[in-house]
Amino acid sequence: MEYGEQARRILIELHQQVPLEQMAGLIQHGTTSTYQHCLNVVLLSVLLAERFSIAVDLPTLVQGAMLHDFYCYDWHQPSPDHRWHGFCHPRLALCQALRYLDLEENCRGVILSHMWPLTLFHYPRSREAWLVCLADKYCALAESMKLDDWLRRETQEFGFSALSILRKQA
Ligand SMILES: [Fe+2]
Ligand SMILES: [Fe+2]
Repeated sequence: MEYGEQARRILIELHQQVPLEQMAGLIQHGTTSTYQHCLNVVLLSVLLAERFSIAVDLPTLVQGAMLHDFYCYDWHQPSPDHRWHGFCHPRLALCQALRYLDLEENCRGVILSHMWPLTLFHYPRSREAWLVCLADKYCALAESMKLDDWLRRETQEFGFSALSILRKQA
């Protein structure tokens, strides 16, 4: 994985800028936390870019994938605040991320369009956005069907797990 080491470095830097661990206590699909889900999407989108030799801006891809669900609430809990979760959470994730760092236009688009086609007018407009949109759907399905063991294994192997990233930070 040629992009692996670069992606890991981008993730370490991102952990220093944004409290990503807030996502660790929230369940996304099945028993997978939102944090692990975002790591899975980083891994898969980077793997796809490499496997199919897709020229991407790696910081945009990694940041967009890691922050795409940074909305930080439990969407399983019924609440009038997130009744329209599917439609609204990409914008919320972007707003949350922008509290901690500035993101370039393409990266904002990656986050805003990851739920397409549900978000009809926010469609993927870049290679990075398409990769995250597709990887997110695969990961959501695999996690819901408990077919995500390989993603967990791979994220750990590439030092993408929370523990190894926090250790590297120290
Ligand atoms: Fe999402
Ligand atoms: Fe997601």
